[in-house]
Amino acid sequence: MSDAAFTPRVFSGIQPSGDLHLGNYLGALKRFAEAQDKGVQSLYCMVDLHAITVWQEPEKLRHATRELTAGFIASGLDPEKSILFNQSQVPEHTQLAWIFNCVARMGWMKRMTQFKDKAGKNAENASLGLFGYPALMAADILIYHATHVPVGEDQKQHIELTRDIAAKFNHDYGVEFFPMAEPVIEGAATRVMSLRDGSKKMSKSDPSDMSRINMTDDADTISKKIRKAKTDPEPLPMGLDGLEGRPEARNLVNIYAGLAGMSAEEVMREMGGKPFSEFKPILADLAVARMAPISEEMGRLMQDVGEIDAILARGSERARDIAAPILARTYEIVGMVGR
Ligand code: AMP
Ligand code: TRP
Repeated sequence: MSDAAFTPRVFSGIQPSGDLHLGNYLGALKRFAEAQDKGVQSLYCMVDLHAITVWQEPEKLRHATRELTAGFIASGLDPEKSILFNQSQVPEHTQLAWIFNCVARMGWMKRMTQFKDKAGKNAENASLGLFGYPALMAADILIYHATHVPVGEDQKQHIELTRDIAAKFNHDYGVEFFPMAEPVIEGAATRVMSLRDGSKKMSKSDPSDMSRINMTDDADTISKKIRKAKTDPEPLPMGLDGLEGRPEARNLVNIYAGLAGMSAEEVMREMGGKPFSEFKPILADLAVARMAPISEEMGRLMQDVGEIDAILARGSERARDIAAPILARTYEIVGMVGR
């Protein structure tokens, strides 16, 4: 393997730790599916090892891993074209993560805002895995020499850390072995906000189910949630500038743009001036038209978990074929004696 040849390769991961929602769809799955036919090899990973950095019921974890896989496929990812697999089945991730634990510095890790958010006030009681999480994430990406990592805004800091780890490894060992992976963050709906509070991210951990549209919600539920979404009393402004200081209105415009495949400017040109009593039903219909078929397809796929497991097993084999030689070369660079 030539150390400096980096063919473009896409990698991204999602945790199987709860219900998939519209934020995951617009911020991640839809974009992955759109990129699929650009001819770049892409790997999408159900990061089950990341999920257990906080407690997971084993049965729920199993279910969530399969449902996430179904979500990928229902969103348009073709397991023949892209490599879909779960992290635990490719041991090279954790093997490289150990090396990266020895490259990353405590100071770097302590600056990670996601750890601070997730650990909360009781950081002493957080798992060591939660603290080390970003080093495993760097390994997920770099074990494939991935060059592009499509993620939501919230993951940018982790990709920067991945670059820092790659740069320090390359520097310390005097090689050009790991690429500088780039985050790919684009699209109007990169950050989908809660339907109940425009200042909070739509999230699976929000206690209110009305705050998010789950990818398993049926048509009626989707429609109801949009119609009940929090807004202010004013009609939509005529231009984007008018959305300043109106986070709920802005969020619904962004969601419309994401679902319709339009820019927020285009949405404002069509919808500017409409009261919410008019805009919400239009948005609700669009959300149902886009999301309900995906929810139905997920339900259908989940009826045959054997098929889902076979897709994951096949994906893991393909992933290992790429990862194994990169790990072997890493061990060699580091000075491990072996075959
Ligand atoms: P998570 O469910 O937090 O593991 O996120 C999985 C993927 O979906 C990541 O690429 C996130 O950045 C993205 N994502 C999660 N929540 C949102 C959101 N509210 N808006 C946009 N993207 C999101
Ligand atoms: N940390 C990411 C999240 O919470 C999930 C993830 C794990 C990931 N490994 C990754 C994303 C590698 C991109 C690349 O959403």
